[in-house]
Amino acid sequence: MLLPDLPPEPYRIRSVERIRLLPREERLRLLREAGYNLFRVRARDVFIDLLTDSGTGAMSDRQWAALMAADESYASSESWFRFEAAVREVTGFPEVIPTHQGRAAERLLFETILKKDDVVVSNALFDTTRANVERLGAHGIDLPDPAALAPLDESPLKGGVQLDALEKTLVAQPRTRAIVLTATANSLGGHPVPLANVAAAARIARRAGVPLFIDAARFAQNAGLLARRDPACEGWSPAKIARAIFDLADGCLVSAKKDGLGHIGGFLALRDPALAERVRAGLVATEGFTTYGGLAGRDLDAIAIGLREALDETLLAARLDQVAALHAQLRAAGVAVVSPAGGHAVYVDAGRLLPHVPRARFPGHAVACAAYEEGGVRGCEVGSLMFPEPVPGQLELTRLAIPWRTYTASHLAHVARTLGEIAAGREKLSGYRIVSAPAALRHFRAVLAPA
Ligand code: F0G
Repeated sequence: MLLPDLPPEPYRIRSVERIRLLPREERLRLLREAGYNLFRVRARDVFIDLLTDSGTGAMSDRQWAALMAADESYASSESWFRFEAAVREVTGFPEVIPTHQGRAAERLLFETILKKDDVVVSNALFDTTRANVERLGAHGIDLPDPAALAPLDESPLKGGVQLDALEKTLVAQPRTRAIVLTATANSLGGHPVPLANVAAAARIARRAGVPLFIDAARFAQNAGLLARRDPACEGWSPAKIARAIFDLADGCLVSAKKDGLGHIGGFLALRDPALAERVRAGLVATEGFTTYGGLAGRDLDAIAIGLREALDETLLAARLDQVAALHAQLRAAGVAVVSPAGGHAVYVDAGRLLPHVPRARFPGHAVACAAYEEGGVRGCEVGSLMFPEPVPGQLELTRLAIPWRTYTASHLAHVARTLGEIAAGREKLSGYRIVSAPAALRHFRAVLAPA
């Protein structure tokens, strides 16, 4: 499906936010002044902002209305009970622990279950998740499906964990304390984790006595992609698929800024009340009381509605179609992309697009900077800049993440034209070198310069 063929969006726009495309010389100057780091470019100077889909989506009229009707009581507010009921309904986990965002859920869980030199095994830990493991002196081991490391491999269900490697690793690493399946696999291309992969990982986990958690930031999109692609889920609703996956796990870590459709928020949901009580001790000391966890009542209400809206089949289909259409359009424009399309983003395969730019010169970052220079489009490198100690076969990608319900087909057509121009003039692009960078999570604050 190309962009012009996209079915009409199943919503209309009642409130608009002005955006501007600055002149090219201005963009070049601002990028230089920002140390060639797009996180440092002022958002007002970006035309189409595809840096992330996290907390940047458009809330619905029902969500905005709920903000006004929220209960801001400190303890046991009505907003909390609505939030808890929504999380229980969607995930099936009885123990619900609110946090101010996903990484706080990661920190609280890992501080509770990990000690120095312990191990967490995953299909692919995202950047903050890995950082929350490593800051405790523990180790994260990624075992992605090999198909996910082959951007041209069109396998529809390649987001899972490599099962034989998982079994071997649990034997070789007796200090493994958790398996985390990131669904969808954000650092690899946004591919879905298939139901059978979760089921097999759960069997392996149970045999080894290790808990299995889902990093479920994009649980609805994972379910929506499985509804389209996984024969095991044929005819099932996204809600039923999401629930089937949660039913196989011991808990989930969730950033509610993606498929919770909140501007802020997150939660942990667990099966084991004893583990939940241990986590709550840390929660009260650092995030907030157990019924708000660092969130306002209005945030809890917005998320309670957002979690259900993300599973709305029509809204979810429109989102997946939008991403698939941008993917098709980029491919038609000669841009190397990771296939098949992910749920929330199109990933440019910058390593393949710029074969003359070596890994150490960050081809994914070069494409991201070029997209800003060429069209005021802000994307994000997912490669050696983000992950300095790359897993074997690490891809060099530029992620174009589409916020929920925010941009129209004509915005995305602009993105496709911009990337098409870059592909046409690719020989002109060179890489970047780091001028200065912090030790951990360096991509957020590094200063770079053209190499
Ligand atoms: N897990 C995954 C898979 C994520 O993508 C993110 C955030 C987190 C956990 C952390 O959640 O931001 O609420 O603390 N990803 C964003 C992104 C930032 O751009 O992909 P958070």
